Amino acid sequence: MCGIFGCILKDEDAAPVIHAALKRLEYRGYDSVGEATIYEGKLYVKKDQGKIDEVHMLHNLDDLPGSLGVGHTRWATHGAPLQVNAHPHVDCSGQIAVVHNGIIENFAELRLELENHGHVFKSKTDTEIIPHLIEEILKNNSSMSLVEAVLEALKKLQGSYSIAVISSKEPDKIVCARNESPLVIGVNEKAVYFASDIPAFLPLTNKAIIVDDGELVTLSLGNVAIKKIADSQVVVREPKIIEWTPEMAVKQGYPHFMIKEIHEQPSCLRNTLRVQEHYADLMSTFLDRARDVYLVACGTSYHACLASSYMFSKLAFLPSFPIIASEFVEQCGKSVNIDSTMLAVSQSGETADTLASVNTARQRAGTILGLTNTIGSTLTRVSRVYIGQQSGPEIGVAATKTFTSQLSVMAQLALRLAKKRGKVSQDEMDFLEEKLKKIPDTVEEIIQKQEGKIKQIAKKYKDAKTFFFLGRGISTATAYEGRLKLMEIAYVPAIAFPAGESKHGPISLIEPGFPVVFICPRDETRKTLIGNIMEMKARDASIIAILEEDDEEIKKLADDYVEVPRGIPEVLSPIPFVVPLQLLAYYMALERGFNPDKPRNLAKSVTVK
Ligand code: AGP
Repeated sequence: MCGIFGCILKDEDAAPVIHAALKRLEYRGYDSVGEATIYEGKLYVKKDQGKIDEVHMLHNLDDLPGSLGVGHTRWATHGAPLQVNAHPHVDCSGQIAVVHNGIIENFAELRLELENHGHVFKSKTDTEIIPHLIEEILKNNSSMSLVEAVLEALKKLQGSYSIAVISSKEPDKIVCARNESPLVIGVNEKAVYFASDIPAFLPLTNKAIIVDDGELVTLSLGNVAIKKIADSQVVVREPKIIEWTPEMAVKQGYPHFMIKEIHEQPSCLRNTLRVQEHYADLMSTFLDRARDVYLVACGTSYHACLASSYMFSKLAFLPSFPIIASEFVEQCGKSVNIDSTMLAVSQSGETADTLASVNTARQRAGTILGLTNTIGSTLTRVSRVYIGQQSGPEIGVAATKTFTSQLSVMAQLALRLAKKRGKVSQDEMDFLEEKLKKIPDTVEEIIQKQEGKIKQIAKKYKDAKTFFFLGRGISTATAYEGRLKLMEIAYVPAIAFPAGESKHGPISLIEPGFPVVFICPRDETRKTLIGNIMEMKARDASIIAILEEDDEEIKKLADDYVEVPRGIPEVLSPIPFVVPLQLLAYYMALERGFNPDKPRNLAKSVTVK
């Protein structure tokens, strides 16, 4: 998730306007930044790695000539956050510049093709193929216009994108296009703007045109021309007036980053399905060859490790040890060795306890693999192989979208391992892959259909003194995550444990009305879980069940329930089943008058041991 912006102004330089707008988009990505403008038939580019203020100090981002330009603030997915990978990217002639937000899946084969035609690439990014592709098309069709060449190029791209293209050969226009990644146009009397998000131009105009998927937009002063990429059909769309304050705009109209990020999960999960095959394969090979596999992390990321240990075992028959990082040195410091492989999971890639565990394993010649949301973080630098989970920056302290994305990557790894180890049939493989592809839609459906109901449940239980979160099998991880969310943002003391443990102690806490949340996917643990529900019900606990929509049996036992679409395979169930728990914690925090984005005593990334 990067931020792109650009403008054509009547009578002022574009660079200062682009710089200021990128600052308003910095929450979308902040590991490198760049701008390009056109002046007197020449393209000017400034870009470097680092936060916008740092790069501005070094290069003065206000000092580029020309009243037409584009800009980009980056959240790395392909290629480390280095100057060479920063956007804009240009073609061989240095006349065409492109900024891009999204992931081009087929960039590797297009790059090879273009290199065979003599194109020279400077970066490791997927984006750089776009200016070279346009250049190649124009070279082979000299009468073609920039718009036509961009259209041609788009037909060869697979993946998600919002892009903007400028060319010193046609210095009066900006050509933009969208497929899945957001793109909006802003207009006023003196200028036209494009951006990933409305906050970028809201202080300049509140007249916005939302661009739909599969549309190409040609901007010139006083004109916005939209057409369908597929058939060039012209689209007429009037601007809408945006009633947001700049602060609201950064949250896209949501009251808090946390609820915005919960709602972003469907698109994040679609992105996560695009992790780079090559690295996922490499990682599953290392896991397959390992004698011991340690899954190490803290907090929410540890819960992803716990769930993954069930996925690896159930699908690939691979035993793995989920270890809380702050305990790794004590628990495994002496047993980890050259035959050990550690998969360290950290959305920030900077959590001190996790990095300390990594160091311990490295000192004992263990192999380090990494799963992170932050390309360029320490974890990526100490890992033999790492995967970027592509959730985009997570501003809310409470991890939500990064958790479900971690689970999706781990499920993909487990499937690859299962295939490599011949533990599942091709039919089962196809079935699970099909289901995994549907998970983003499933999460979308849960949010749309159940959010209101969860709000009511939060209101009903807002004065509860404590909560239990129970699950069996892989849902134990979901229960732990539900508990952590409620504790960290609503400050409700909560306890989670495998439901089978109830009668070994915790059940003594149960009194009439004591809220117990049960996570109830339809899996092999169902029968015994119903027994656990009965145990609690017999002591008048209030049963809140997260269940499948047609599960009449458990609905009858529950005082309150939230429905999840049926037919989700057990090993994938933590992804959709955790979403109602994220929402419960969020609305409980609101009911209790707390700000979900800034939980007391907590920071987004814990870099001290
Ligand atoms: C989760 O909501 C918390 N923010 C916290 O537990 C977090 O998961 C933990 O600190 C690990 O962070 P990491 O994924 O960046 O390593």
